[in-house]
Amino acid sequence: MLTEAPDPGGRPGPAGEAPGEISLSRSLTRLDLVVIGVAQIIGAGIFVIAGVGVQIAGPGLLLSFLLAGGACTLAALCYAELAAMMPRAGSAYSYALATFGPLPAWILGWDLLLEYGMGAATVAAGWSFYLQELLRAYGVTLPHWASGPPFSQPGRLINLPAAVVVAVFSLLLMFRTRLNALVARGIVAVKLGLILFILAVGATRMDPGNWLPLVPHGPGSIITAASLVFFAYLGFDVVSVTAEEARRPERDVPFGIIGSLGLCSLIYLAMVLVLLGMVPYREIHPDAPFAAAFRQTGLSWAGDVVAVGALIGITSVFYMLLLAQPRILFAMARDGFLPGWLAALHPRYRTPHRLTLLCGLAVALAASLTPIERLAFLCNIGTLFAFSLVCLATLYLRLARPEMPRPFRCPAGIFVAGAGTLVCLGLMLSMPASSWWRLGLWLLAGLCLYAFYGRRRARAVRPAP
Ligand code: ALA
Repeated sequence: MLTEAPDPGGRPGPAGEAPGEISLSRSLTRLDLVVIGVAQIIGAGIFVIAGVGVQIAGPGLLLSFLLAGGACTLAALCYAELAAMMPRAGSAYSYALATFGPLPAWILGWDLLLEYGMGAATVAAGWSFYLQELLRAYGVTLPHWASGPPFSQPGRLINLPAAVVVAVFSLLLMFRTRLNALVARGIVAVKLGLILFILAVGATRMDPGNWLPLVPHGPGSIITAASLVFFAYLGFDVVSVTAEEARRPERDVPFGIIGSLGLCSLIYLAMVLVLLGMVPYREIHPDAPFAAAFRQTGLSWAGDVVAVGALIGITSVFYMLLLAQPRILFAMARDGFLPGWLAALHPRYRTPHRLTLLCGLAVALAASLTPIERLAFLCNIGTLFAFSLVCLATLYLRLARPEMPRPFRCPAGIFVAGAGTLVCLGLMLSMPASSWWRLGLWLLAGLCLYAFYGRRRARAVRPAP
């Protein structure tokens, strides 16, 4: 996160404190919020997953990005309306608690754990591929068994760099939850600089003939790839978490959410056009597509620049996801859904060290043993489920509580919320059956935990807003 990451360990934090306990300094401007959104959105989705998307849809990837961006825009407008209505709540979990009560809130919180956990694992796996790409360029090759998860290629056993990077960051987060604001801004500057570099230099190597045929694998492939590259847009919801720190949350948070998503959508379309133009789609590298495209067009030095920049840029997304997952669990434990000892704070560092370690272990296992596209699909199906609930909550409040003040009123709100729910469900339906049953098992485990523990212990339901 760009601003000081809120610390659930008793220091001020929008999602870490009960409403009314501590008020944060309202220092973030609209521009800050857009920058925070961009920092969280641009990461492994465009730098890595786009390469897998090309394997599915060919040049039709451009349409897949448009479709995924459209679905996110509908959800983002609903997020913006709810964030402006409940500027202190600041996350989908809290919206569900306030709108629907404890059981849906538990389901959503449990689902968000999946989103953040699988998101962090996806980004870690992507980070590992860019690292290996860079090392290879300098003649260093990892042993084949350590270069990727089992079954992705014969002889591979584990994605070792992914496991190591998760372990290192989890240990760091046990001792410190704040990313120095200056370092974080530096990372965003590197990321935006890298994108300009890719667009400017890549454009000199483009052959528009490579953009055709636009839909070589049929319309179904466009939708399947959209449900995968949807990952690239995730992160705009983080802006809603900063609502307590915004100067004028009712106006600035919707602006931050929609502005960052709009800007990233434009950046993605330009980057995909350049990537597809540089190399015939069948030759696009699935693991590190941008760095490889520069090498394939004879610009090895540019490939190095892209690999280093992508590694740095992806790290900020990764850091935030690893930070966020234990904080969601912390919020759920604070509401009585989980045993309090799990959320105990480190006596000296005031961080939820047990939860951080637990989450780190789970993410390291997933990142090192699961193929990246499976991780991304699982993250996406969980997120789409959360987005559809947010759209549904917006629709419900519009119909059931039309009189409530809405500082940001989504234009054509009922239509947008209804369409958002349907489009998110539609994208979920296009996902592989394996993602569905994994999501089902995860939710079932969550429901069992709720039935045997959370239901009796959950604190009083918060009143509807
Ligand atoms: N949108 C984020 C990324 O692409 C999650 O890494």
